[in-house]
Amino acid sequence: MKKFVSLLLALLMVASLAACGKKADDSNNNSNESKTLVMGTSADYAPFEFMYKGEDGTMQYGGIDVSVGQYIADSMGKELKVENMSFDYLLPSLVKGDFDIVIAAMEADGDRLKSADFSDPYYTDLPPAILVKAADADSYKTLADFSGKSVAAQTGTTKLDIVNEQLTGANAVPLSLVTDMVNELVNGKVDAILVDGAVAQQYASTNKDLVIADASSELGAAQPYCVAVAKGDPKGLLPAINAAIAKMNEENKLESFISAADALKDVWQEVTADDPS
Ligand code: ARG
Repeated sequence: MKKFVSLLLALLMVASLAACGKKADDSNNNSNESKTLVMGTSADYAPFEFMYKGEDGTMQYGGIDVSVGQYIADSMGKELKVENMSFDYLLPSLVKGDFDIVIAAMEADGDRLKSADFSDPYYTDLPPAILVKAADADSYKTLADFSGKSVAAQTGTTKLDIVNEQLTGANAVPLSLVTDMVNELVNGKVDAILVDGAVAQQYASTNKDLVIADASSELGAAQPYCVAVAKGDPKGLLPAINAAIAKMNEENKLESFISAADALKDVWQEVTADDPS
């Protein structure tokens, strides 16, 4: 029996080595010739990217950005492969060559331009917003009301910059997962969280204890989301990505991507809540 188990282990190792080898080939330097398009994302940001249990019981990636990635991959004649990671690790991994592209409700923000190039915008969200507990809503009429309060935002995002720059006197709490931020707010560990507009709306509509604070209207406009590739576009993907985005806009695809994400609302909510990671 022991012998059998070690034989099995040896076989498994060979199999996984073979799988690694295949993967290395696939993501070879010039990914334009590869059959897969590897998309990095941070699947904690419904309705843009999230996980849900599919009909066959396996976990699936869903959301507007996943549909955008699928559309781009289809138009390039490639298969889409999604990889999940906390938001602050996305660009370093893109630079290392772990992904071909990043789609994660990501803005083409100044510092990021050092390590990445960005496509044309594919979507402009609702303005950013601050979520608070419904019971506390009356205390947050203006941004000044957050002075002395703890406000969480996701590490490495422009939303954390906004907390630091516009919420004078607030105590900024950086957290790496948005799903954790929401839990901290629900459990009263932080007073508020700052996220992008559609994400705030999604949580406010699915969680009756949370509302968008009136003060949010002072935060200013949303910046558009773009697809990132490594600096200098070493795989030569940007022209095809921009062509796909142009066609996607012409065909008004975003609308159907938004309703497809919306249709998964109940499923993602349940899964992210008990996801241990
Ligand atoms: N739009 C913000 C940014 O570009 C936050 C994006 C967070 N995305 C995510 N998938 N968690 O920094």
